[in-house]
Amino acid sequence: MSMDVHARPGRRVRSIPLHRALPKLLREPAGALAGFAREARGEVLRLELGPFRPYLITHPDHVQKVMRLEWTKHQRLGMFWRPLERLFGHSIMSDGEHWQNSRKVLQPLFTARYVATIAEEVSRRVAGRVEEWDEYVRSGRDFDAATEMSRILSYIVNRVLFGDKLSREDGERIIPAFEQASYSLVYRILMPFMPYFMRIPGDRTFLKAVQSIDDVVFPIVRKAMAEPDDNLDIISVLCRSVDENGEKLTEKQIRDALVSVYAASSETTAMVLTWLWLLLEQHPDVAARLQAEIDEVVGDGPAVPEDIPRLVYTRMVLQETLRLYPAGWFLPRRVVEDAEIGGVRIKAGSSVLVTPYATQRLGEFWERPDEFDPERFAPGKAENEGRRHRYSYFPFGGGPHRCLGEPLFYVEAPLVVASILSRFRMSVRTPGPFDTGWAASLRPRKKVALGVSFNGRDRSEALR
Ligand code: HEM
Repeated sequence: MSMDVHARPGRRVRSIPLHRALPKLLREPAGALAGFAREARGEVLRLELGPFRPYLITHPDHVQKVMRLEWTKHQRLGMFWRPLERLFGHSIMSDGEHWQNSRKVLQPLFTARYVATIAEEVSRRVAGRVEEWDEYVRSGRDFDAATEMSRILSYIVNRVLFGDKLSREDGERIIPAFEQASYSLVYRILMPFMPYFMRIPGDRTFLKAVQSIDDVVFPIVRKAMAEPDDNLDIISVLCRSVDENGEKLTEKQIRDALVSVYAASSETTAMVLTWLWLLLEQHPDVAARLQAEIDEVVGDGPAVPEDIPRLVYTRMVLQETLRLYPAGWFLPRRVVEDAEIGGVRIKAGSSVLVTPYATQRLGEFWERPDEFDPERFAPGKAENEGRRHRYSYFPFGGGPHRCLGEPLFYVEAPLVVASILSRFRMSVRTPGPFDTGWAASLRPRKKVALGVSFNGRDRSEALR
């Protein structure tokens, strides 16, 4: 590491030179950031990436400043967010007035109380989808974990967002489109300084993916606007909403909101559940305890909403999975007003990167930080009783941009895990190790093949 004198008159900032930063970031981005943060013990760092020199912010005090205390100085603008604008438009995934209004409209739809009203339907959908896996057992075929998790999650999210207005076929069409968008965006994120009039790899795939999404979503929005109803799904609510000027939302505004929430909700949860199967394979003791809880609470399944409060260990496992693999791993901000973080002066116009992946693995705040140990989240444990720094664990972000989907996550994820494990035994067929790859949500770099068999109970009927 070297010292950057230009950051004066505040404290000198350590910097990671290009020749060290770039190869590591290209190989394993999340791991590289966590490694740099660990070496610096959470001090502010500057990544020297040629024309682009973002600050890496990982100490919980500093994260809190960026995300909450001085959030207006650190906005979701700039080079990292621009590529996303092409997908999300100006909506809840932006900042300023558009974000504020969008959040006002969407927030009431994601409260724990609202989620409770749809939990029954969510559990029915999960059960229906999980039963379809009998076919994998019959045929002995393996399947791709991320795709299958995305299918289940999208099916749930389609209900929440679109009511019955999106057919299952259309739902299946947009999953690969979102996946392609997530991967192809990476080139723009890696080369944020490249002007948009220049085509770079990924652009064509990205634009095609956005077009496929629009081909599905716009006709549904038009129909919903032409035939308004009183339903509580998000598209119906958006059709009844007004913007910051009191005007009814346009079809573009509704499209932007739906696409943003779709992306924020289905891919993130699907990726957490993909990492979960890998972790369970590597930790048979945890897997056995989880299975025992599910056998006791859910029995033959499928899981129903009343089971959720009793799935205590399941929740701990999910929390620990989110610590090691927070799907929203990359939270960039543009500094819009001169700021000071950890004694370092940061000028307006700079970029800062916040990453729960790195903070949640800092040895200063976590014992055995790389070890998968759900016990950390046991109810009543010291760490849980307020001693842990609020921003040492923030898989759902924090401050005014905090994730709206956390209550939904803690309903849908336990239902999915418990319904699957009440019926099947899972095994990972791809040999590890599994590094993190470059994508908008934290994904394993290589595909994860899963095999399923029925668990111990008699499912012979299903095989007929
Ligand atoms: C494991 C699952 C999830 C994770 C790890 C996750 C993570 C995050 C994070 C870190 C943010 C903050 C982004 C930032 O500060 O720039 C965020 C924002 C958001 N999330 Fe989630 N999320 C998850 C699931 C969901 C679900 C299920 C939904 C919706 C149903 C959702 C909707 C949103 C929305 C709308 C925002 C933007 C909030 C705002 O900026 O005002 N998320 N999420």
